[in-house]
Amino acid sequence: MALLEVDGISAAYGRVRVLANVSLHVDAGEIVTLIGANGAGKTTTLRAISGLVRLTGGAVRFAGRDLAKRSPDEIVRLGIGHAPEGRRVFARMTVRENLELGAYTRSSRTEFDEDYERVLDVFPRLRERLTQKSGTLSGGEQQMLAIGRALMSRPQLVMLDEPSLGLSPILVQTIFGVIRDIAARGTTVLLIEQNARQALTIADRGYVLELGKIALADTAGNLLASDAVSAAYLGGAHA
Ligand SMILES: Nc1ncnc2c1ncn2[C@@H]1O[C@H](COP(=O)(O)OP(=O)(O)OP(=O)(O)O)[C@@H](O)[C@H]1O
Ligand SMILES: [Mg+2]
Repeated sequence: MALLEVDGISAAYGRVRVLANVSLHVDAGEIVTLIGANGAGKTTTLRAISGLVRLTGGAVRFAGRDLAKRSPDEIVRLGIGHAPEGRRVFARMTVRENLELGAYTRSSRTEFDEDYERVLDVFPRLRERLTQKSGTLSGGEQQMLAIGRALMSRPQLVMLDEPSLGLSPILVQTIFGVIRDIAARGTTVLLIEQNARQALTIADRGYVLELGKIALADTAGNLLASDAVSAAYLGGAHA
């Protein structure tokens, strides 16, 4: 059984349909990437899974449980972490306070301390800046904080929406290394990336979303080798 099963979901903003019958699944231990052009509906898909966008059809199941009618809060508690698009950190709070907020679903002090240490091991830059106001962090540091905060709920599945957006080439490498590391530590990953080639390089499988519909689903290797994917999403010629 898949850990996450998105089964024919549809969603709309007002009267504009954005997702039409989207199905995908993520097995425990996998890194799965969702790629597609701007506006294809990638962010909306993650928001629908997190309960932030209402479904107009279909179902989402996580570890066998139907997520319909559950609040975003409950969905976090069930084990889905979500680092949203655009480095949403609480600017006036410190780094430490932001990480504490990520753990709001949990009550065990010991577990909190363990996760806190683990996140700071993954992001040593954050450890040096625990008392700094998050709004004064660099863009890359804010991105790390957004990912770190999502990991603080000790999710079984973490969804990352454009984690490398706007980062320098070196930081992009760091972030992809971190994603691999997160997966190696046992967290399943659903990853959205504009940087499709990099994403497919670390992923097991991928889906291509076009205008709210799944256009292709395959192993990451096959998608990387596909001429159609290459032309549309990987900047042309094979690397
Ligand atoms: N709150 C909203 N109200 C109205 N339309 C919206 C809203 N959010 C997104 N949309 C529209 O829904 C479509 C899908 O948006 P979404 O953010 O899911 O795309 P995306 O694939 O994540 O794109 P990008 O790569 O640019 O982040 C777009 O046409 C967008 O304009
Ligand atoms: Mg998006």
